[in-house]
Amino acid sequence: MSNKVGTIGVLTSGGDAPGMNAAIRAVVRVGIARGIKVMGIQKGYNGLLSGDVRELTARSVSDTVQRGGTILQTARCLEFLKPEGQQRGADMCKVFGIDGLVVIGGDGSFQGAEKLANLGINTIGVPGTIDLDIACTDYTIGFDTAVNTAMDAINKIRDTSTSHERCSIVEVMGRNAGYIALWCGISSGAELVLIPEKPRMSDEEIIKIILENKNVGKKNFIIIIAEGIGGSEKLAKKIQQITGIESRATILGHLQRGGSPSAVDRIHASMMGAKAVDLLCEGKAKRVVAYVKGQYVDYDINEALAMQKDIDEYMYEVSNLLV
Ligand code: ADP
Ligand code: F6P
Repeated sequence: MSNKVGTIGVLTSGGDAPGMNAAIRAVVRVGIARGIKVMGIQKGYNGLLSGDVRELTARSVSDTVQRGGTILQTARCLEFLKPEGQQRGADMCKVFGIDGLVVIGGDGSFQGAEKLANLGINTIGVPGTIDLDIACTDYTIGFDTAVNTAMDAINKIRDTSTSHERCSIVEVMGRNAGYIALWCGISSGAELVLIPEKPRMSDEEIIKIILENKNVGKKNFIIIIAEGIGGSEKLAKKIQQITGIESRATILGHLQRGGSPSAVDRIHASMMGAKAVDLLCEGKAKRVVAYVKGQYVDYDINEALAMQKDIDEYMYEVSNLLV
C-alpha cells in the first residue's frame, strides 16, 4: 500500500495529560516504520505559527513512554481562534512540507484541527485530556492516571480524616465534567460526589447526609467535589459551623495532571497514536480517533464534535448507594 502522505506533523494542544508522550512516540515510530518523515511541533498551534518545528527520529522519543507531561509542550493559542491565524497555520504546514497533522488534545484542539483540514491539511485528532469529556470516545488519554493519582491522594486524606473524625471535602479537576469526581468517589468510598452534570445539592441536603452517616456510626466523611462546582472551603466552614464536625477542604489541583502514565494510558495512547498515522497513510483527513466498546475507531471531526456525552446515570446512582 502506498502512503498518501510523505511528511506529517504532530502537536499537543490544550491541557496536558499523562500518556501524551506515549502517543507522540507512537506517531513518530509508526510513522517512520511506514516510511514517513515526522515533524514535532512545539507548544501546540503556537509552535506551528512561529515555526518551532523540528524533525523527530525514533531516538528523539527514547525514554519517553513512562514520562508525564508532553515533550512537545502544549499551549492555548489565541491567534489560532481567528481565520488569519488558521490560514497562517496552513501556510506554515506547506513551508515545512507537512501534508498530514496529528493533533493530540481535547475538543477545542479538534476545532482547530477541523479548520486546518478545511484549508487543505489532512488532520487527525487524538483524544488527550484527563477530563474524559470528549463525547465520541469511551476513553481519553490521561484519565486513568489522573483518577489513580487523585485516588491515592484521597486515601491519604482519609487516613488523617479518620484519625481526627473529620469531614474532608476534596476538590478534583473537571471544570465542566464530573467524570474524575465520579470515578474517584466510587474508588475512594466517598460519602457524597458533587458533579457539574447534576443540579447543585443544597448545603442543607449535604449536611443532612453527613449527619445521617454520623448517626449510623461513620467516623469520617469524604465529599468529592468537581472543580466545576467549586466552593469547597466555604462548604467546609459551613459544615463545621452547623454540625460541629471539624471539616477541612483540600484542592488537589494540577498534581492530577502530572506523573508517570498508567499502563492503561500508555496502551491507549500508543494505539491511538498509531491509528492516527495509519489513517493519514490511507489518505483520510478530518477524522478523530476514538475508543468505543473495546475497539479503536474513527469519526469525522464535525460528527464527533456534535456528539453529546451524558454522565452514566447508573454509575451515579451506585456512587450514592455505596455509603
Ligand atoms: P482542549 O483542546 O483541551 O479542549 P482548549 O479548548 O483550550 O483545549 O483548546 C486548545 C487550543 O485549540 C486553543 O487554545 C486554540 O488554539 C485551539 N482552538 C480551540 N477552539 C478553537 C476554534 N474554535 N477554532 C480554532 N482553534 C481552536
Ligand atoms: O481540561 C483539563 C483541565 O485540567 C481541567 O480539568 C481543568 O479545569 C483545566 O484543565 C485547568 O486548566 P489550567 O491548567 O489552564 O488551569
